[in-house]
Amino acid sequence: MCGIVGFTGSADALPVLVNGLKRLEYRGYDSAGIAAFDNGGIRVTKTRGRISELERILRGQPDFSSACGIGHTRWATHGEPTDENSHPHLSHDGRIAVVHNGIIENYADIKARLIKRGYSFRSETDTEVIAHLLDFYYKGDILVALAKVMATVRGSYALGVLCADRPGEIIAARLDSPLIVGLGDGENFIASDIPAFLEHTRDYYTVDDGEIVCLTKDSVTVYNSDLEEISKERMTVSWSIEAAEKGGYEHFMLKEIHEQPKAVRDTVSPRLENGRIFLDTNINDDFLQDISRIHIIACGSAYHTGMVGKYVIENLARIPVECDLASEFRYRDPIISGRDLCIVISQSGETADTLAAMREAKRRDIKTLAIINVVGSTIAREADYVLYTWAGPEIAVATTKAYSTQLVMLYMLAVRLAAVRGLLDAHTEKKLTAECLHLPEKIEAVIAQINTLSYLASRFHNHKDIFFLGRGVDYAAALEGSLKLKEISYIRSEAYAAGELKHGTIALIRNDTLVIAIATQQSLAEKMVSNIREVKARGAHVLTIASEDTRQMLSEVSDDIFVVPSCFEKFSPSLTVVAMQLFAYYIALCRGCSIDKPRNLAKSVTVE
Ligand code: F6R
Repeated sequence: MCGIVGFTGSADALPVLVNGLKRLEYRGYDSAGIAAFDNGGIRVTKTRGRISELERILRGQPDFSSACGIGHTRWATHGEPTDENSHPHLSHDGRIAVVHNGIIENYADIKARLIKRGYSFRSETDTEVIAHLLDFYYKGDILVALAKVMATVRGSYALGVLCADRPGEIIAARLDSPLIVGLGDGENFIASDIPAFLEHTRDYYTVDDGEIVCLTKDSVTVYNSDLEEISKERMTVSWSIEAAEKGGYEHFMLKEIHEQPKAVRDTVSPRLENGRIFLDTNINDDFLQDISRIHIIACGSAYHTGMVGKYVIENLARIPVECDLASEFRYRDPIISGRDLCIVISQSGETADTLAAMREAKRRDIKTLAIINVVGSTIAREADYVLYTWAGPEIAVATTKAYSTQLVMLYMLAVRLAAVRGLLDAHTEKKLTAECLHLPEKIEAVIAQINTLSYLASRFHNHKDIFFLGRGVDYAAALEGSLKLKEISYIRSEAYAAGELKHGTIALIRNDTLVIAIATQQSLAEKMVSNIREVKARGAHVLTIASEDTRQMLSEVSDDIFVVPSCFEKFSPSLTVVAMQLFAYYIALCRGCSIDKPRNLAKSVTVE
């Protein structure tokens, strides 16, 4: 939600900031702005709309150049996307500028107090209170003022601040919102995410909660909340800027769909040895043997992988699994025992609800295992154990490759759990391990049928409602197929457990409603045939996604059929979801939608 960037160096800061913002646009894209030192003061240019609009305005200001500034791309929370509500926000005398990602929960209270003291506000945002509060506390030392602001506000923030009395310097701080510092040669950066500065440097620091950073072009100083200097570990990014670029594809989403075989391979291969799976985290076998219950916690697509994980872990390792939406878990006072394990799943590792739910689990003294894509993210740092998915940077707002790597990580965890609990003989363990290893080539086989999926999309893109049906893991996959379609094509869609439809929702099936039936499991194929007959009897058009094993039985009842390779039945979401991703992609393309940046969405949801 919102991206922030900052640059201090010798080069012109404006293009560096604009390019950085473009790489963060996935985090929010309803308004953008920059602030930079200029003629002894601070100059701000901001606008509603995309970064291209900001760029257009800046082109009309050729006199504006600076060696130090901050920038922001917004996903509105407080106040509509207007010019006034865009960041940066200035103190009343224009001497302090602020960009902010997060939410200040007690802003209304602070605002009322500041108004009483004579401050006036130009925007409806929570962020503007920070600019005025900094001014209120500022008595010549901006670090002291910022520390006082941090002690006053409640909520979450990553902040970038300029103070006209300290030209060439950026002050930054964070609490519960991502913030990193890029370490260059004679230039330094702040950003919400690595791609913002990756073309300039691969070295960075992560900033922890409560820390304050002061950057000049030649130095980076980090302080704790008592303003004592602290040292940080220098980290290095292992992937290249090309990985965060489109590389000839029309959209990031299409590129990332094509990257799935590699991403899954990179996630599986390092964890295999002699046909067995090893978990590269310090979790020990005694603990795995002793787990009494697993709580999987996540949001959105990551929650959908958790739903698959529930079926797979229960099936293989015979451990009861509860799968919870993080936003529900954190407030439902869950029943937890000391031998439970909490698995949190998150691509970004920064999702506010997932982070809060994990902290709730830790507060109740159960061990937490995080499946995370972004190395060094907050959840990764706070979890007891971490398993990284190696999907690389995911830029399209709708997740694809991160989802696929989360799935395979859960399969591997399930196999490992089953093995240490003595539920797999050596032959079956080897077979399941090989199934994980061969998934990439099967995903490639699904992607190879891209023309069929684009043709199907061209036939169905005008539908107003699309239902997805499935049982077991196919139902879990249906949830993700439906979400992909909704978020990028804006077609209303629902996913139903196939046996549940007749308990009410079948009333919505009309002549020519499109129903996508996912039916990859031989053991459930007959049941799916009956469910398909039920909707067809009400006039539905049925497109079935079957496996090579179920194709024969399903083709008789389906109007259209798409076939994925056969695999261990419980792993089939790795194949069916790829087909649904491509189907959704081409539907959105036919409808002329903004595929990489769908309306109202942002990639990283760091607010509650
Ligand atoms: C949908 C999507 C979201 C995320 C969800 C959790 O395509 O990407 O539903 O899965 O916001 O995000 P992470 O995985 O970063 O915690």
